[in-house]
Amino acid sequence: MTLGMHRFGPVSGLPVVLLHGFPLDFRMWEAVIAELPEVPVIAVDAPGFGISPLPEGEPSLSVYADLLAESLAEENVSSAVIVGLSMGGYAAMALAESRPELFAGIGLLDTKAGADPEAAKQNRLAVADAAEGEDGSGAVAPMIDAVLGATTHAERPEVVEVLRTWLAEAPPAGIAWGQRAMAARPDRHAALEKLDVPGLVLRGDEDDMSPADAAQQMADALGDDTELVTIAGAGHMTAMETPDPVALAIRRLYERVRAG
Ligand code: MLT
Repeated sequence: MTLGMHRFGPVSGLPVVLLHGFPLDFRMWEAVIAELPEVPVIAVDAPGFGISPLPEGEPSLSVYADLLAESLAEENVSSAVIVGLSMGGYAAMALAESRPELFAGIGLLDTKAGADPEAAKQNRLAVADAAEGEDGSGAVAPMIDAVLGATTHAERPEVVEVLRTWLAEAPPAGIAWGQRAMAARPDRHAALEKLDVPGLVLRGDEDDMSPADAAQQMADALGDDTELVTIAGAGHMTAMETPDPVALAIRRLYERVRAG
């Protein structure tokens, strides 16, 4: 089984691989991709989302990472700048642990390398059960308040409405798989310490889900060749809330990688 891979821009050259947040699909990146017309981009659908099927067996970000490695091989990609937002960041870190040679650069947006505390794990498992029960997609509706920053809620009604629609359309089986996979994820700071490529760590300053100290810890683990960016007036979904500075930061990472 392979994952849905959506290509944009030039067909050849080192690609940027974009991994979206939970419980969305590759469309989360559309506004960022529009700002990067000269960059080969592969935007991936996570297992159970978009056009990607649901894997068999125990949900795990390592399974996502293995599928990603297989899907990139099918696309003849042996090296890429891999950028993940939130759950996409967790998947990128799982891939960094198992297949570091695939990375020419890494971007970690609105995410964290630590494991969840027990209460957060239990909450994820409850949301997974609710999605499989009567709530269906409604299990993730409350996320609208937490994932968008106060500035977006006040000043970007179109972003609020698009995200509300996407949350209402999120596939229940994908929600359940994703929450169980995220609940099971281990601490992955050690994988970042071993990675020796240019890095970007980015968060919105109104992101309560991925705190500033977690971003600093990832940047410290990645080492000196890492840019740490804080975007004013954005919450957890920076790629949707403030796509211009997110695209600029990804372009700077891409150019640093290409400058070698
Ligand atoms: C995401 O945006 O991918 C999720 O908020 C991640 C999470 O629940 O930790």
